[in-house]
Amino acid sequence: MTAEYQVHGDVAVITLNNPPVNGLGLATRRGIVEGLDRAQADAAVKAIVITGAGGAFSGGADIKEFGTDKSLQEPNLHSVISAIEHCEKPVVAAIHTVCMGGGLELALGCHYRVAAPGCSVALPEVKLGLLPGAGGTQRLPRVVGVEAALNMIVSGEAVKSEFIGAVAGQKLFDKMAASPESLAEEALAFARSVADARPLPLVRNLPCKHPEGDAYFQFARNMVKGMARNFPAPAKCVDAVEAATKKKFAEGLATERELFINLMWTPESRALRHLFFAERAASKIPDVPSDTPKRDIKKVGVIGAGTMGGGISMNFLNAGIPVTILETKQEALDRGIATIQKNYEAQVKKGKLKEDKYQQRMALLSTTLNYDDLKDCDLIIEAVFEELGVKETVFKQLDKVAKPGAILASNTSTLDVDKIAAFTQRPQDVVGMHFFSPANVMRLLEVVRGKHTAKDVLATVMAIAKKIKKTAVVSGVCDGFIGNRMIERYSQQAGFLLDEGCTPSQVDKAIEKFGFAMGPFRMGDLAGNDIGWAIRKRRAVEQPDMKYSKTADLLCEKGRFGQKTGKGWYDYAPGKRDAIPSQEVLDMIEQHRKDAGIAPRKVSDEEIVQRLVYSLVNEGAKILEEGIASKSGDIDMVYLTGYGFPIHRGGPMHYASEVGLFNVVQAMQRFARNPLDDARAWQPAPLLAQLAAEGKAFA
Ligand code: 3HC
Ligand code: NAI
Repeated sequence: MTAEYQVHGDVAVITLNNPPVNGLGLATRRGIVEGLDRAQADAAVKAIVITGAGGAFSGGADIKEFGTDKSLQEPNLHSVISAIEHCEKPVVAAIHTVCMGGGLELALGCHYRVAAPGCSVALPEVKLGLLPGAGGTQRLPRVVGVEAALNMIVSGEAVKSEFIGAVAGQKLFDKMAASPESLAEEALAFARSVADARPLPLVRNLPCKHPEGDAYFQFARNMVKGMARNFPAPAKCVDAVEAATKKKFAEGLATERELFINLMWTPESRALRHLFFAERAASKIPDVPSDTPKRDIKKVGVIGAGTMGGGISMNFLNAGIPVTILETKQEALDRGIATIQKNYEAQVKKGKLKEDKYQQRMALLSTTLNYDDLKDCDLIIEAVFEELGVKETVFKQLDKVAKPGAILASNTSTLDVDKIAAFTQRPQDVVGMHFFSPANVMRLLEVVRGKHTAKDVLATVMAIAKKIKKTAVVSGVCDGFIGNRMIERYSQQAGFLLDEGCTPSQVDKAIEKFGFAMGPFRMGDLAGNDIGWAIRKRRAVEQPDMKYSKTADLLCEKGRFGQKTGKGWYDYAPGKRDAIPSQEVLDMIEQHRKDAGIAPRKVSDEEIVQRLVYSLVNEGAKILEEGIASKSGDIDMVYLTGYGFPIHRGGPMHYASEVGLFNVVQAMQRFARNPLDDARAWQPAPLLAQLAAEGKAFA
């Protein structure tokens, strides 16, 4: 049983006890109804309190149950709430810490609510691509007003209980407890005080109107349309709340139910639910138990004050952790510090950072030209030039000065972390921390696990990543790690598409319509086309038989490196970032086709999207079977947080599973027959072929 029953004098207390957040799974729902039955059968009980054990009143419906039989079995949440409403004795919700989703809906079904201060109150279903499906859209407007309720439902954001409690006229809370500690006692006393109250108040009986009716909902619809481009749920939230104002309660509830069930089956909701669990699973490493002891990180050293070193330092300063940056020359230090200051000052100007906070952060920052000043650092992150020789000098120095147990991390994007670790006598303390640019903004952090990286080093880095608000994903050592290894296949396909007849803007537009933040050519111009050029030159030596379109090299030979040179795949007006199609590039591509004897053809947007996305999927499957990533969800997290993959598609691996792996493999076989493509690249990864044959999905 995941709800406990106790009697305190004349009050029965039903305590939800389903860790970690008292999700309202089947056993918990049964426990509540059984508790109500017992309390009603006991003549000595005059009132009932429902509360939650541990760190939550309730985080809502048990999301793990969605799509399973358990979510359909009685009592469902509606039936539980109905049982509460029909209870002959007053039912009081004693709310604390977290009261969300179905948890709040349960509380709204109770006759009375007593809340502790500091409780996060929310209907966050929209973040899962849903709307509140157990009366939340019908009851919340009745107690906090239509506009306040709609704002909460459409945003899914939490509001603090004391904030709601202080709003005049709100009917959500009948009483605010003095403190979380006194909640239990105050709820018992409140229950006794209402033991004889009849009739028992029900939120459903309160009126629900908006003075401007249609005009307000039209306004709300327009607002939501602009905000929620690829998601159907927010507009449905408006429909449901409007129903609360226009229909009888039972009819409004039926409307909400229908909308909820329809949303549950949308691919957007499946994608968001996948994201919810994948994000949490990414922080768990299969062979590193959650109780692995962690090293204390009180002070951080950063080597190199360039593009990455500055951004990396800001992350730690923002989290209140002192940083010392080391450089080879004072000028480089001055330049790096000036950039950090400029970034913070821009935030202050926009009102995103208070001046005193800015000063506090800068006070945590020190600089040095001397390795001795890093000897008390617990974590040292190297972000110097991407050359193995330079990394060797740095890591040998670090090995001499760093204190025993200090974690030595490299931000390398392409070099072998095991080789870097071998420059030291302590490879167990060496790990890759691959931040993405701009490092103070981008959420993704690839944590590269070397052959010898110690488990407590990994556990520590995952914990510190959370502290600096990054989504950390563990990758094994391989060229490009998870993200860049996959993007190379994607870029290869983008090049072939140009060879075969596309323009850069046609490719970009097709994949941007699919939902990517930016197509491959706009992205190349932003990141600098010379980076890929350098990688291809290296590849030409290491893997001479790798097939690429020549267009990207021809572009770089013209000095068209991207935005930084004012021209790349597109032209750019001075100081502007708008991509303007370039006649020079179109002529260059056409000439290249002529030279190669290629007759251009019309390529459909569907083919463009499939080739770009499935190239990611096939490489992702190889990464998975090689154990470079431990779960397909990790690969999705990399792409969702670091590469602008559309959130509503759930990441490349989830998307492929949605399309059906059988269909993906079929398409790959079709592409392999194209003589202008790279047939070997389309050879399905064995894992993908096997899952497709078995009719299975990645997750
Ligand atoms: N169901 C099942 N598991 C849940 C859950 C839920 N509603 N909410 C959280 N969890 C699990 C997480 O998966 C995680 O599990 P793990 O430890 O095995 O990885 C654990 O609880 C802790 O979660 P967090 O890491 O997110 O912990 P935080 O302390 O940072 O946050 C929280 C707690 C604020 C409750 C946050 O987890 C959250 O926002 N949860 C989602 C709440 C939600 O969306 N509720 C609505 C559900 S849908 C619904 O109620 C439908 C109804 O209208 C019919
Ligand atoms: P950068 O050229 O902007 O900065 C490198 C800094 O290191 C310079 O300030 C330089 O003076 C300093 N430096 C060089 N040798 C040094 C030494 N021996 N000791 C101390 N300082 C030294 O380079 P950037 O872009 O910041 O890249 C740094 C590292 O981060 C590289 O390994 C790169 O591959 C990686 N990386 C870069 C990304 C990017 O988008 N720029 C993204 C992810 C990783």
